Amino acid sequence: MRIRKAVFPVAGLGTRFLPATKAIAKEMLPIVDKPLIQYAVQEAISAGAEELIFITGRSKNSIMDHFDKAYELETELEQRGKEKLLAIVREVLPPGVTCIFIRQAEALGLGHAVLCAWPAVGDEDFSVILADDLIDGKLRPCLAQMQRVYQEYGTSVIAVQKVPKEEISSYGVVEVQPVAPGLGEVRRIVEKPKKEDAPSDLAVVGRYILTPRIFKLLERTPRGAGGEIQLTDAISMMIQEQTVLAYEFEGTRYDCGSKLGYLKANVEYGLKHPEIGEEFTQYLKGVSGDLNSLAPKEKKQG
Ligand code: G1P
Repeated sequence: MRIRKAVFPVAGLGTRFLPATKAIAKEMLPIVDKPLIQYAVQEAISAGAEELIFITGRSKNSIMDHFDKAYELETELEQRGKEKLLAIVREVLPPGVTCIFIRQAEALGLGHAVLCAWPAVGDEDFSVILADDLIDGKLRPCLAQMQRVYQEYGTSVIAVQKVPKEEISSYGVVEVQPVAPGLGEVRRIVEKPKKEDAPSDLAVVGRYILTPRIFKLLERTPRGAGGEIQLTDAISMMIQEQTVLAYEFEGTRYDCGSKLGYLKANVEYGLKHPEIGEEFTQYLKGVSGDLNSLAPKEKKQG
């Protein structure tokens, strides 16, 4: 069983990155030299996806252009003999992978965005990837790790991660019954609970493998946290009918929906970038040296 279809909800306004996101999609912001959405797409493809379904909104044409064939650019690079660059451009969408774009007319929330994918997904299990959550899966991409769990148990799987208590109210939070190390059956799931009401410190991150049952449930999911139709609320109904597993993935997640997380990702990916990694490392060593020499001075002044 392979998950062939991956859904990318990309209709969010990206207000936390204004003015950068006034005219371009937040998912097009680069981590070093690749846009966030491309990392997400590569992760899906590495887990076997061959149909990519983007749920888009206004100002998201750049995403469509990014995954389109760039005839002019390719011809130009070909004529100039820029083989390496040509390969980079062509790798954006490997052969055999197709894209579908669906416009979410109103920003009614993640659950609503996923529901918009129903006509393209149909009656099969599928994945959802939130490009904001960039995950360096180290040995294996996060979705490929989840795919293994899915293959073994044949049920919905959502990715979770322990987060500090002060941050818990920014997430969907699960309470689980342990099944195996790092794996539990979801007993309860709540969207953005208050710190004191959170059922655990296990937060949902932006990777889901879901059965199509979710669509029927989303159809009758009322508006929840933030006045939006929440995927979490539909999953909460789903656990009454089907097993949903919460999987603690191996790897590092960067919250690229926040400025700090985005900067951290750029630094980490910059450090190991084949082209600039070494020089960037030297540069950062210099910067940290400067910062160290700053610290005592600040103290003296204080
Ligand atoms: C969404 C989901 C939330 C999840 C989070 C992960 O929230 O609704 O359950 O924990 O993604 O990034 P958002 O970040 O869109 O508010």
